[in-house]
Amino acid sequence: MRTVHSLKELRAILRGYRQQEKTIGLVPTMGNLHEGHISLVRKAAEAADIVVTSIFVNPMQFGANEDLDTYPRTLIEDQEKLSAAGNTLVFAPSADEVYPDGLARHTRIVVPEVSDGHCGASRPGHFEGVATVVSVLFNMIQPDFAVFGEKDFQQLAVIRKMTRDLMMPVEVIGAPTVREEDGLAKSSRNGYLSEQERIIAPAIYQALQTTSEKIANGRDDFPVLAQEAGDSLREAGLRLDYFNIANSQTLKPAAPEDREVTLLAAAFLGTTRLIDNISVTR
Ligand code: PAJ
Repeated sequence: MRTVHSLKELRAILRGYRQQEKTIGLVPTMGNLHEGHISLVRKAAEAADIVVTSIFVNPMQFGANEDLDTYPRTLIEDQEKLSAAGNTLVFAPSADEVYPDGLARHTRIVVPEVSDGHCGASRPGHFEGVATVVSVLFNMIQPDFAVFGEKDFQQLAVIRKMTRDLMMPVEVIGAPTVREEDGLAKSSRNGYLSEQERIIAPAIYQALQTTSEKIANGRDDFPVLAQEAGDSLREAGLRLDYFNIANSQTLKPAAPEDREVTLLAAAFLGTTRLIDNISVTR
């Protein structure tokens, strides 16, 4: 497995693969890889001849008071995990490589509607940063497909819409959320949790599950259900950002006639912000 940092080198290698008519799958990440990321790499390796994993902590998607500076950077460990999972190439560019004219001067991609609400409301500019970097990565690598986790449900919806609207010739594939044994969704940010916070953290998945069972049993008073779930998270000791029940396609508030709904939650433990979601077919 090779690691390259420059676009020039990456393109030279990929040109060779394309001449041999190899298919290319991309897994975009910010590194500090865990089993969730690795499941995406395995999925990509099942479908593509060549798997490229990008590792780039994207400054454009972090807010001014967020964890850009402290975000864990663990390239050596990440390389070992990727090599074992069947990855072909690691692309770990610098910020200068991705944003040669600097962040402020870079062209940005805005994806309307699906970017609103949920994390988009709590983190202004976040999905603009995500959509922009993913479109840059798509153009740098020109993969046949790219794999993203359902863990970041709104992000996946934003990327699907962007790819459709801009007619990008990249197939977007979603992959299920990988969890710890107690249900907590795996996340690079779980490492920020204290021992006590780590004990409380699975309450998010529990609230999602309890609410999805209520919906499966016929309840459709979604605002009341969201309120109940939010209360349970506060009682467990989390600071609620949001608990929303949305139409799975539009991400707008769910209506009683919707067949597919997604429950999305975000909550803080100390300064650590955790997100999770579950989808329910009614
Ligand atoms: P990052 O948080 O590193 O996640 C990279 C990919 O791994 C995303 O598609 C995310 O949904 C997926 N992922 C994270 N935790 C997961 C889990 N527990 N189970 C399954 N998949 C999981 O998401 C980003 O980076 C960035 O926003 C990025 C798309 C790379 C753009 O900068």
